[in-house]
Amino acid sequence: MDADLLRRYLEFYQDLGITHLYRKAAPAPVADRSPTLPPLAPSNDSLLKILEDIGDCRRCRLHEGRAKIVFGVGSERSPVVFVGEGPGADEDAQGIPFVGRAGQLLTQMIEGTAKKEGIPLQREEVYICNVVKCRPPGNRTPEPDEMEICGQFLYRQLSTIRPKAICALGGTAARALTGHKEGVTKMRGRWFQWREVPVMVTYHPSYLLRPYNQSAKREAWDDLKKLLHFVYD
Ligand code: URA
Repeated sequence: MDADLLRRYLEFYQDLGITHLYRKAAPAPVADRSPTLPPLAPSNDSLLKILEDIGDCRRCRLHEGRAKIVFGVGSERSPVVFVGEGPGADEDAQGIPFVGRAGQLLTQMIEGTAKKEGIPLQREEVYICNVVKCRPPGNRTPEPDEMEICGQFLYRQLSTIRPKAICALGGTAARALTGHKEGVTKMRGRWFQWREVPVMVTYHPSYLLRPYNQSAKREAWDDLKKLLHFVYD
């Protein structure tokens, strides 16, 4: 592999937040000792191409229990992308993100806040996806290796859409996009960055469904207000 190509690979993986590259387990012939690297993102990427590349994915253990891969939904030209953690049971059954109870709340939050702020906006006009595309068993938090493997597809989705802003829903999405390790309570309502794109962190809708977290709802609405004004004003 020539030095320029290797540099481009390393920059690409650095952008993805990948800090370690592994050699093949079996000793390779002397002429082929380069790290095993998945391909670079194609320059003419599209959501369709990413979906094709995901294929019938078996890259991590999450494929074992999934019914459907939950890729993402909404407009490829959306100026804002909402990123959740990973599919739950309803999403796994339907193959569409945020269609269960948390999804209904997310829809209300987006459409309700927009309406109150005089911004005509329907859920179909934004793009919604998750850090991992397969349901973690029992809705557990995705493991770091699962996030790293699936993260390459999230990053390609974001690079393709090139939104004006991203909304990280909950701590997992916030960590995956910003690399910051603070709790979501400290990060919410503040702007971070994914590459050059501003990222607003807010609570995950599932967290807001818990009866003892009702005061957080007002904060989440404030965060969305900030986000939507930034994107649509
Ligand atoms: N929670 C998520 O993080 N994503 C979904 O798609 C549904 C629930």
